[in-house]
Amino acid sequence: MKHIDKNSAKGNFETLAIRTQIERSAQKEHSVPLYLTSSYKFDDAEEMRALFANEKEGNVYSRYSNPNTSEFIEKMCLLEGAEDGFATATGMAAIFSVFGAFLKAGDHVLSSRSVFGSTHQLLTNVFDKWGVTYTYADLDKPSEWEAKIQSNTKLIFVETPSNPGIDIIDLALLGDLAEKHKVILAVDNCFATPYLQRPIDLGAHLSIHSATKYIDGQGRVLGGIVMGYKNLIDEVVGFARHSGPAMSPFNAWVLSKSLETLAIRMERHCENALKVATFLASHPKIKLVKYPFLPSHPQYEIARKQMRMGGGVITIVIKDGIAGARKFMDALNMFSISANLADTRSIATHPATSTHAKLTEEQRLEVGIEQGSVRLSIGLEHIDDIIADIAQALDKI
Ligand SMILES: Cc1ncc(COP(=O)(O)O)c(C=O)c1O
Repeated sequence: MKHIDKNSAKGNFETLAIRTQIERSAQKEHSVPLYLTSSYKFDDAEEMRALFANEKEGNVYSRYSNPNTSEFIEKMCLLEGAEDGFATATGMAAIFSVFGAFLKAGDHVLSSRSVFGSTHQLLTNVFDKWGVTYTYADLDKPSEWEAKIQSNTKLIFVETPSNPGIDIIDLALLGDLAEKHKVILAVDNCFATPYLQRPIDLGAHLSIHSATKYIDGQGRVLGGIVMGYKNLIDEVVGFARHSGPAMSPFNAWVLSKSLETLAIRMERHCENALKVATFLASHPKIKLVKYPFLPSHPQYEIARKQMRMGGGVITIVIKDGIAGARKFMDALNMFSISANLADTRSIATHPATSTHAKLTEEQRLEVGIEQGSVRLSIGLEHIDDIIADIAQALDKI
């Protein structure tokens, strides 16, 4: 990868996240500067030709690459165990770029039924229109996946843990299926981050993130990234360079800085979330608590096998349905009601009327979203204050 100071990129997760950086400029700055430039100057006509002909490595135009995005990509690839990557303006642009790069009319996608609402829209309303078919399979029924692979299946797409159902599938099992049937396995790793789960180690070909979530972790910027084997990333880059979903240098600069604290933030998010999930598990107003590292989670053993910790998101179902969910959310004092997640601030979301509102009631129930479901993104406030806020709000139902 161009521009990276190779001596900086060695060590364990935390060290790589902090010490991977582009080469210092003549100013010898300690913290990497922001390269707000849309284009680059060539030494002469020959250099310009060679760069455009891919005979020489270097920056050509910031829709293709930029020092800040290169640093972010290189760092993420080291953390995720990927050969190469491409950074995009949003997580959806990353998913769209993968679909756009690999799917043509007549192809088929096998996808987990539980996918982010906009991914569902891409499959059902955008690629469907372009002659790409799809089949959904359930994360909790892994034995049904192989029979759903068709001769024209090009891509297996899966989100684990899923948003907001927190369902999980064995990635090694899907990796074996993908290998056997020679299809691409792409994993939306947004809820886990590379700190908790490394899909490529488990057999995935591509790992995708909405960097808007834990990678930023502070609710500031949008971003996305696709990582994986170089030959596949070359195809994504070929599609993305010309369709233009590139991440802005400013966002890449923010996100690369955020990665410096990813490990320490994820440790605390997960610690807090496990305490909240344990508190909620025995609460009389709650019908269901879904959290990967609660032994009651249906795929608890798989979660323990493939994730370092349980993540920061819990989905609960309030006994009183939508009325209870609304009362609970309105009674929260500290939690923010927001559509985002993975912030330092704890957030409550009602998926049925927000992120997954476009699904029919039947489709929502199929992925475990009830009218009483509330997604809790557990932040980094003091755990006693987080639990106290939830407890007082539940008392008001
Ligand atoms: C699992 C998952 N994938 C993809 C996305 C889309 O990311 P973005 O909002 O950055 O486009 C989200 C957003 O919430 C998400 O939760």
